[in-house]
Amino acid sequence: MKLLARLLLPCLLTPLLAAADDEALVQRGRALYHGHAAYARGVGATPLRLPVEMAACARCHGATGEGGREGGQPVPALRWQALRQARAGQPALADDAAVLRAIAQGHGRGGAVLDAAMPRFTLQPDEGRALLAYLRRLGTALDRPPGVLDDRIRLGTVVPLGGPGAATGEAIAAGLRAGFAEANARGGVHGRRIDLQAQDARAGVRAALAAWRDEPVYALVGGLWNEAADPADALLAEAHLSHVATLVVRESAPRRADWSADLLAPLAQQREALAEALRDCGAGARLAVAHGDPAGAPVVRDLRWLAPQSDLRDELRRAPTGCIGYTLARAPAVQSAAPPAGWAQTLVLPMPAAVLQPAAGESAATPWYRLGLAAARLTTELLSRAGRQLHERALLDELDRMPELALSPGLLVHYGRQRRHAWSPLVVPLGAAPIPSAMASRGGS
Ligand code: HEC
Repeated sequence: MKLLARLLLPCLLTPLLAAADDEALVQRGRALYHGHAAYARGVGATPLRLPVEMAACARCHGATGEGGREGGQPVPALRWQALRQARAGQPALADDAAVLRAIAQGHGRGGAVLDAAMPRFTLQPDEGRALLAYLRRLGTALDRPPGVLDDRIRLGTVVPLGGPGAATGEAIAAGLRAGFAEANARGGVHGRRIDLQAQDARAGVRAALAAWRDEPVYALVGGLWNEAADPADALLAEAHLSHVATLVVRESAPRRADWSADLLAPLAQQREALAEALRDCGAGARLAVAHGDPAGAPVVRDLRWLAPQSDLRDELRRAPTGCIGYTLARAPAVQSAAPPAGWAQTLVLPMPAAVLQPAAGESAATPWYRLGLAAARLTTELLSRAGRQLHERALLDELDRMPELALSPGLLVHYGRQRRHAWSPLVVPLGAAPIPSAMASRGGS
């Protein structure tokens, strides 16, 4: 038996090892194709010295090799099948060497010189092999980003799961789970069920990403952490991990090239809405209390911006009447200072009012649960629109094409090419109405 094993083992192992080698080569090619890794020659790989993301084949030929247009010029599909077929009266690229000549020397079909829009790449031999290995897989069912399996998509979230934020984090995670359970009950998305893994934001985003190293997630959804204290944008970019429907509160919305798309209105926009609302205040003092950098706050005549930790009682005693405006994060402070009757109050919310109102039969759910649910429903819709053939930025790309979507009655989200946050600030003129305490405890912190 032992002897047999000794004789058999090498025969079994050799093909296994070779398969692992092939897979590593394909993954190297995939990283080069998508601009996730640099060429050995760095920017010297192209005559124009293009940076990694500009030189990425995917930028022109498409993330799934579907082809497209670049600067008005048609860019051919790069799927292996397409390369190996005659096209528009031109012969096929006959073999590996012919495909490599197109990439490295710009010699196209039948020896035609390719347009200068196609960069001539100076490749190391192993880079050429890696690209060829990946081109065979590009756009096929086997071409999948990390975290996407044949029958499952692994998604992650990073929220506080202990300490003072635990109730918030657990409510968000419960909302996310409920949203994905709805999708899974309908059979998942394009034949894949959605699995959600939650990590504790208190350990930091870097630690969360490290915990997923062996079993990667495809994207993050609905995460909440303090971006000012734990800036994660660069980490997400480095990991090629998109974060959609985030509940992260930030100064200004993410830009199109970033890897995040938020739900909540950014702080700068909340302050602007506040200033605008207080502009129309009648007689008396005008006070605004908002989170974020007051140095960037809009200047309005007679309007004073108060630091979030100022003594509001004192400020409110100084004038008999006036207007005080504040954002959700500061609502508890203002309410405990109990503005006297002569003061008008204005609250600016980073979300639509529907988030604060329970839907029928949903009395136990907190606003954070509803935000988690909204994040899951939006993500499910994006996955559905993106189709079965996914790539790392597929969900973000779908936002470019999705100007508006109703997640539930009264809960619309707006995105677009230049808009990476779902909601604009909502201005609520208040009597002395209390703010739901579950929101006020953490909103905007
Ligand atoms: C800046 C845009 C751009 C980038 C980046 C780019 N290409 Fe191209 N590529 C083109 C254009 C445009 C053509 C068509 C040129 C023509 O028809 O004359 C083309 C043609 C080709 C062709 C010939 C296809 C055919 O069917 O004849 C191959 C093969 C090719 N590219 C491979 C690649 C690979 C591999 C990469 C990355 C290593 C890459 N390209 C990066 C723009 C680009």
